[in-house]
Amino acid sequence: MDMQPIAARPGNHNLANYEEKRASFDWEEVKKNFSWYETGKVNVAYETIDRHAENPDKKNQPALIYSAPDREEVLTFDQLKKASNQFANVLKDHGIEKGDRVFLFMPRSPEFYASFFGILKVGAIAGPLFEAFMEQAVRDRLEDSEATMLITTPDLLYRVPENELPNLKKIVLVGDSEKISERYINYYKETEQASEEFDIEWVDLEDGMLLHYTSGSTGKPKGVYHVHNAMIQHYATGDWVIDLKEDDIYWCTADPGWVTGTSYGIFAPWLHGVTNVIRGGRFTPESWYGTIDKHNVTVWYSAPTAFRKLVSSGVDVIKQFDLSSLRHVMSVGEPLNPEVITWGMKALNLRIHDTWWMTETGGMLIVNYPSMDIRPGSMGKPIPGVEAAIVDDQGNELPPNQMGNLAIKQGWPSMMRAIWKNPGKYESYFINGWYVSGDSAYMDEDGYFWFQGRLDDVINTSGERVGPFEVESKLIEHPAVAEAGVIGKPDPERGEIIKAFITLNDGYEANDELLEDIRVFVKTGLSAHAAPREIEVKDTIPKTRSGKIMRRLLKSWELGLPTGDTSTLEE
Ligand code: WT7
Repeated sequence: MDMQPIAARPGNHNLANYEEKRASFDWEEVKKNFSWYETGKVNVAYETIDRHAENPDKKNQPALIYSAPDREEVLTFDQLKKASNQFANVLKDHGIEKGDRVFLFMPRSPEFYASFFGILKVGAIAGPLFEAFMEQAVRDRLEDSEATMLITTPDLLYRVPENELPNLKKIVLVGDSEKISERYINYYKETEQASEEFDIEWVDLEDGMLLHYTSGSTGKPKGVYHVHNAMIQHYATGDWVIDLKEDDIYWCTADPGWVTGTSYGIFAPWLHGVTNVIRGGRFTPESWYGTIDKHNVTVWYSAPTAFRKLVSSGVDVIKQFDLSSLRHVMSVGEPLNPEVITWGMKALNLRIHDTWWMTETGGMLIVNYPSMDIRPGSMGKPIPGVEAAIVDDQGNELPPNQMGNLAIKQGWPSMMRAIWKNPGKYESYFINGWYVSGDSAYMDEDGYFWFQGRLDDVINTSGERVGPFEVESKLIEHPAVAEAGVIGKPDPERGEIIKAFITLNDGYEANDELLEDIRVFVKTGLSAHAAPREIEVKDTIPKTRSGKIMRRLLKSWELGLPTGDTSTLEE
């Protein structure tokens, strides 16, 4: 679909002078917004929460509005400061120190956010895990990070293989439980008794803050390591792209188990001291529109997969709600279909602003910001301070309109600092001074970037990144499965669905019941979003002579495309 550009609506946008700002930009300018610029005392928890709690004009402003079907709660900046101080004291009592990895495995709740900031306040590194993870996914992450503490709820505990995690010394249970021993800590009991005062552990800008696990095309999920310095970019993009103003009511729909839910569900809004709506519970069009209506949300950051569901839910649903509070909407995670932008113009009378970035980049890099013309289908332009280009495999820049690797010149504040315990993997992202994203794209003659696809085998299903290797490994653990090859298959609502090709062991026969059993096996072993929606039984799985599964060939077969070079195919 070819669409005309959509011009900015007039308004007082934070980034009005993009070209000028880019031309003379210096990150030093952004640093002046932080208290550490004067005091030298660094901790992102202080900048996001305590700084506002110490401001008489802001301390009683709602920081967090928690809204779930069974629970509504508001915490002011002052209350969030105190709750996180209490938890920081609990952590300290139990020996947690700077640099330790403390993981969170629970649904969004006020306790989640208090714990999260508690972890940062003692200088530890927070590792948020998506609540839908099953045993294998939880084990892989806790094992690799050598986490010493986990915060979870009693009903998720059965997915934590405690006996296999020798480093895991303590488990904090948020909720009532029979479990009482040295190992278990009752969240409510201990925070209740803890002091509301806490001396924050001041850190260095380069000290660890977060570990987010994400999938590549080979191997287990890798730990993407972020440091406090990232706040500089979270603040800047909160200003330029999210266009935050003092009195905004902001809602980011992402779970903090994914990077959008931390960088833009926690840091950016609270660095700007705005009221942040956190929704718990399942997605329905009614509950989502209802959230905007009820809390008068002004700025909304979500994902194409959610927008597509809203589009298909129709106009009758949307008419039941008053969405007039909204002034700014953004999207991330997958290509934003021009059709969805058209829907936004009609249904919300607003442009939906696409943003591009990755877990590894820690913050937005290529964006549509409020004062620019949007070209529907384009990810937009690089933010000030960031240089993006299309490069060939040797890292040479390509001219406009030529497809290649989407790459970013090294040196932006929120860039990951390591892949946990895997320096080789980290190095492999860089060519010739460029961070190479793994996405293919082109840039038009006006500097707009257009996403074309992933260059590796990583699958993007409903905006969630799934590594085929993980799914294949789980599949072959099933007694019936001999070999497996997994690909992403295009799907109108989910972007891609996971499709698995398998061969069966002797004695097993392909039937619906068996295939369903295999699907459930992956779902309950790994996680729901990693379970293949389609499974096809084959006689053989194509492999290279060195034994690598040829996913590309599987994909070509599936899509009925030419198979290309198959010279490395095994006999
Ligand atoms: C991959 C990163 C950090 C945001 C959440 C996803 C794809 C991301 C866009 C976009 C087309 C996009 C890319 C990227 N992606 N944003 N605006 N248009 N594709 O983070 O899980 O690390 O995935 O998501 O393929 O490489 P992630």
